[in-house]
Amino acid sequence: MSLNVQLIMLSLLTVTKLTIGQDDGSVDSYAKMFEPMLSQQESTLELHLRSMRDADNRFVQFLLRQQSNAVKVHVAQETPEPGAALVYDAVVHHFYIYEHVQQMQQHLKQFTSQVGFYLLALERLPADEQQLLQQFMETIWRVLGHNRIYYVQLAAKQVLLYNPFLQCVVLAEDEHSYERIYSNLHGYPLRAYIFDSVYSALYEDDSTERPLRATGPDATVAETVAKHLNFTLNYVWPDDEFFGGRQPNGSYTGGVGRAHRHELDVIFAGFFIKDYLTSRIQFSAAVYMDDLCLIVQKAQRIPQSIVPLFAVRVDVWLCFLLVGFACAFVWLCLRGLNLGLRIECLTDQNRKIDDGRFFVIAWRIFIDTWVVWVRVNVGKFPPYNSERIFLASLCLVSVIFGALLESSLATAYIRPLYYRDPKTLAELDDSQMPIYIKHPAFKDDLFYGHDSAVYRRLNAKMVLVGEGKDRLISMVARNGRFAGVTRSASLELRDRRYIMTHKVHKIPECPKTYHIGYVLPRPSPYMDAINTVLLHILAGGLLDHWISEMKERAKLNIHHYPDYLAVLGVGQWKVLTLTDIQLAFYALAIGCVLAALVCLLEFLIK
Ligand SMILES: *[C@@H]1O[C@H](CO)[C@@H](O)[C@H](O)[C@H]1NC(C)=O
Ligand SMILES: *[C@@H]1O[C@H](CO)[C@@H](O)[C@H](O)[C@H]1NC(C)=O
Repeated sequence: MSLNVQLIMLSLLTVTKLTIGQDDGSVDSYAKMFEPMLSQQESTLELHLRSMRDADNRFVQFLLRQQSNAVKVHVAQETPEPGAALVYDAVVHHFYIYEHVQQMQQHLKQFTSQVGFYLLALERLPADEQQLLQQFMETIWRVLGHNRIYYVQLAAKQVLLYNPFLQCVVLAEDEHSYERIYSNLHGYPLRAYIFDSVYSALYEDDSTERPLRATGPDATVAETVAKHLNFTLNYVWPDDEFFGGRQPNGSYTGGVGRAHRHELDVIFAGFFIKDYLTSRIQFSAAVYMDDLCLIVQKAQRIPQSIVPLFAVRVDVWLCFLLVGFACAFVWLCLRGLNLGLRIECLTDQNRKIDDGRFFVIAWRIFIDTWVVWVRVNVGKFPPYNSERIFLASLCLVSVIFGALLESSLATAYIRPLYYRDPKTLAELDDSQMPIYIKHPAFKDDLFYGHDSAVYRRLNAKMVLVGEGKDRLISMVARNGRFAGVTRSASLELRDRRYIMTHKVHKIPECPKTYHIGYVLPRPSPYMDAINTVLLHILAGGLLDHWISEMKERAKLNIHHYPDYLAVLGVGQWKVLTLTDIQLAFYALAIGCVLAALVCLLEFLIK
């Protein structure tokens, strides 16, 4: 208790001194740089003191006075075994105080946590121990892979940091000193990883098993980041399995495995930001998004002989028929009214005919309606004004319908028509096709955990196929009995030809959208520096630009393949041939046969 009171008194004293402006070279000048750092985020500061006497130290008092974070004080206590409980989410900073470097060296194994930083205070540092301190710093970097340790020289009133890239000790002047070290890596070789993915490709020298160069937007990002942070990209030879994941026996494969085992520093290939069942990796800022979509084989082409029937949709045909009958009925009603109300006939001669039997009139009207409806001249105008007006309006409607039919027909001849492709997941579900997947991760990710019955049924239809030589999309293109899963962007890039040559169809309703980021081991000292450059690239819209450039190039690439161009019919005029108008002749032939039959019948009967 008394100690606390003493502390408060002391701190008050310091504050008063400060306000008065007496600068007696106290703690403030170099300790002040820790103030903003400690208040940056919710964190705990753990003070490991050797004895109560350490609390008298001005620097310790300064730390105790911090208000922005919780302070935990251990006095003369053995710290728990390092790595026993590696909780990554809680930010804990540690403070240790030592008399000299040798003492510090004995505790080397304690400084493993990389979530917060360490403050190591040295009471004295004779000139001959400088070398020893630097060795200690180097060992920490080599063995533990971090350098977020501030060495506070209590006697000299200065703070030191280790710059592993220049292999020297630097003086920390303000709170950004640590970040400044990571803003220039001085050519340090970073173990980077990239492989053939949607936005990246790696060219390798198979004989020496050395990656030569990487291309694609992801690789451009890697180069840009490397240029800004001044490190060299030391690409690692990729595994057979690119993305990888957790195996049933608990080991990890592919890129995830490499990052999990901390075998590399950064993966510059885009990974879906999702749970890879390990807490030893982390993602950079999200750089772009992508959908996971389903593909099926494109429906068959409609044969040229019956194309006109498919020129407009069924409902248009139905409407056409229905309106024909409806108009005949309306005309009949008008005639009935006209006759019933004894409205004066416009021509005399018609009256005689119209006085005839009801069925003759009805038949006449029915035929005349259809004659007008298919845009043929009606032979005789009706004898009533109201009916003539009705006929005029019918003519107009038939012109519009006819124009629609004709233009659709012309398009149908020029652009090939296909039978209907599934447009929604529900339609795919109805088609009872199995869904083939190549990545086991899709199984518990794509449709899993949805309320919708369609998703549940689709989830049950997923089949994992072995990683063969053949790509899934070419299997789908050749064999129409199953659907495949692919990334939407790859359909615009590498696999664009399948879409352009109408081999596969992408179902527009995509079940899943992901953010994509790069992967770093966790924890990683490079995270903040890389994110800073990445966010600048994103804010400048550069990545979007590189991606659209790549898509444009993929679109143009199709011109290198004469086979595809022939399929597409690019640069050719569509010449209508006899085969295109077969249907007209079929109709004529059927008409002729029917006419002949009827003629024969009549001849036989009469
Ligand atoms: C980048 O690192 C190299 C050492 O590999 C160094 O010579 C160069 O000056 C550094 N560039 C900058 C801008 O600091
Ligand atoms: C786990 O299984 C993979 C093959 O699936 C094997 O290569 C690996 O060695 C296994 N790991 C362990 C720890 O058993």
